[in-house]
Amino acid sequence: MCGIVGYIGKNARAYDVLIDGLKRLEYRGYDSAGVCLVGEHVTKTFRSVGKVAALEEKIGESDACAKAGIAHTRWATHGKPCMKNAHPHSSGKIHLVHNGIIENYQQLKDELTQKGYRFTSDTDSEVVAHLIAEENTTADFEEAVYNALSRIRGAYALVICHEDEPEKMIAVRNSSPLVLGIAEDAYILASDASAIVQHTNRVIYLDDGELVIVTPEKHKITNLRGKTKRKKEHALEWTEDEAQKEGHEHFMHKEIHEQPRAVEDAVRGRMMIDEGLARLGGLREVEDRLRAMKRIVIVSCGTSYCAGLVGEYMLEEYAGIPTEVEYASEFRYRKPLIDDCTAVIAISQSGETADTLAAIREAKNKGGLTLGIVNAVGSTIARETDAGVYNHAGPEIGVASTKAFTSQLAILALLTVYLGRQRNMSMTMGRRILTELKRIPQKIQHLCDDEKKYQRIAQKYAKYNSMFYLGRKYNFPIAMEGALKIKEIAYIHAEGYASGEMKHGPIALIDKNFPSVIIAPKDSVYDKTLSAIEEVIARSGRVIAITTKGTKEVERIADDVIYIPKTVEMLTPLLSVVPLQFLGYYAGVEKGYDVDKPRNLAKSVTVE
Ligand code: F6R
Repeated sequence: MCGIVGYIGKNARAYDVLIDGLKRLEYRGYDSAGVCLVGEHVTKTFRSVGKVAALEEKIGESDACAKAGIAHTRWATHGKPCMKNAHPHSSGKIHLVHNGIIENYQQLKDELTQKGYRFTSDTDSEVVAHLIAEENTTADFEEAVYNALSRIRGAYALVICHEDEPEKMIAVRNSSPLVLGIAEDAYILASDASAIVQHTNRVIYLDDGELVIVTPEKHKITNLRGKTKRKKEHALEWTEDEAQKEGHEHFMHKEIHEQPRAVEDAVRGRMMIDEGLARLGGLREVEDRLRAMKRIVIVSCGTSYCAGLVGEYMLEEYAGIPTEVEYASEFRYRKPLIDDCTAVIAISQSGETADTLAAIREAKNKGGLTLGIVNAVGSTIARETDAGVYNHAGPEIGVASTKAFTSQLAILALLTVYLGRQRNMSMTMGRRILTELKRIPQKIQHLCDDEKKYQRIAQKYAKYNSMFYLGRKYNFPIAMEGALKIKEIAYIHAEGYASGEMKHGPIALIDKNFPSVIIAPKDSVYDKTLSAIEEVIARSGRVIAITTKGTKEVERIADDVIYIPKTVEMLTPLLSVVPLQFLGYYAGVEKGYDVDKPRNLAKSVTVE
C-alpha cells in the first residue's frame, strides 16, 4: 500500500506539489507521512505520525522552498505505525520513499549490519537506502541504484534522490504502481494519477521492471539493466474537479450520489437495444475465443467479490455458462484447475489489488483467458489481462467502494447479454435486460432522493453492536455487501447471510438487541424471504426491510421499510444496494467516524 510522490522542476514548488499529492493519495494509507526536500545546499526531512495535516503543521514556511523532493503517506506493513518507521528513509546522502514489500530484507539487513550500517527503523524499506549507499561507495548514483535493485526481491515502487545530485531523481517500479507526469516545467512521480492530474494530463504508466531517471529538463526510461526503453505517453481523462468533494461532506457521500452517472457512463455506447446486443469494444480481440469458453471463474476481493457473486447468478441464469467466484487470495494458493476453455475474470476498482493481480497471473500461467473489469485506467490488472472492460466510474476516493460496485454490476449485466447472445439468449431477452438497464440510473436517482429516510433509520440503529443482513438469490451478495459497508464505516459487527441459511444455526443469535436488515423485493424468492422475516420477528428481532412497493405483508410486520423501484430480478442488486450504502454511511457519521478513512483500511490493497 502507501502513497508516494516525487517532484523535480525548474521552480521551487516541490513542497506544495508534494503535500497536495500526499493529501490526494491519503486513501492509500494514513499511518504516517513524511517529506524530504532537496535543495542545492541543504536537504531537509520531516516526518510525522498520522495524517498529512499533522506533517504540514510541522513544516515552517521558511523550510518549504525547494525544486525537488520526495514524499510518502504510509500504510504499515513492516514495523508499527510510528515516527521512526515513517518515510522517507535515508542512508548518508541517499533518501527514498517506498511502496511495497522487500521480501529478502532480513538477509540484506544482516549483511549491511555486519558492514556497519546502523538501522533506525523496523521497516524493510530502510534496507534499500543502505544498500544503495553501500553501492554508491564504489559506483555513481545511477549505477548504485541499478546494482542495488539487482539484489532486492519483492514488490516496490521507489523514488530516490541523492543530496549531491539535487537535479536528478530516480524512480523504479516492480509490482507496485508508479506513474510519471510530464508538466511544462517539472516532472511528478506518483502512485497514481490523482496526485498528478492538477498539474498535467500527460502521463507515462511505468511497467514492472522499468526505471526512470528524471532531471528538470528531461527523462529517460530504462529496464533494470540500464537499457533505454521507448514508452508511449497517455492523456489523462480525469479532470481535477473529479478528484474533489464538490460540496459533499465526504467523498463516500459524493460517490453514492454519483451512481446514476457512473452507471450511465458504464453502459454508454455499449447497448444496442433494438438488436438486444451488448457492444464491448475491449473484448473485440478475444470475441472468438470467448465463444468457445466453457467455464468462467471470477476472482476478486471485498466489495468486488460481492459484485462477482451477483455476476455468477447473472451469467449462469442468462448466459448459461458455468461460473464460479473465488476470493482472489484463495485462488492462487489452492491449485485451481484452469484450462484454455476457462475465462478468468478479475474484478477490481483499483486494478492494483495484489491478491487479484496474483490470481490473474496464476490463471495466465495455466493457459486461461484472462479478462479485467477494472475502473482505474492504465492500472496493472487492466494492462496484464488479455482483454477487458473499463467501468468508467471516475476516481473513487472514499475508502468504502460504492459507485465502483454499481458500475461493476452494470458491466456484469452487459457481459451477460454479450456472452448470452453468443450462445442461446434470445434477442427479446437481450432487449428486455438492456431496456431495464437503461432505466437503472434514473431509479438510483429516486433512491438517492430518499436519503433523509435512510439517515433516520441509520440513526435509530447505529447504537446496536451487531446486525444481520439477509437476502436470497440475487440479493444474497447484496446482504454481504451491505454488511461489509456498515462494518467498515460504522464498526458495527454485521453478518451478511443467505436468508435460507439462518435456520441452520445463526438464528440462535436473534433477540431484541440483534436487528436484521432483510432484502425482500417482489421477486421469484419473495415468499421464501418473507418466511425469514417472520422467523426473525417471532424471536423478537427487529427488522428493516428493503422491498418493492405493494408488498403489504412486509409493510405489516417489519419495523422499518425502505422501498426500491421495480426492475427485472437480475438488476435488483443495482437498486437494493443503494439504501444499504446510505445506512452504512449515516451510521458511521452518527457515531462520529471519519467515513472516508476508516481505521485499519486503505483504498488500494497492494500487499498480499
Ligand atoms: C470495501 C472495499 C474493498 C475493496 C477490495 C478490492 O468497501 O472497497 O473491500 O472492494 O479491497 O479492491 P479492488 O476492487 O480495488 O480490487
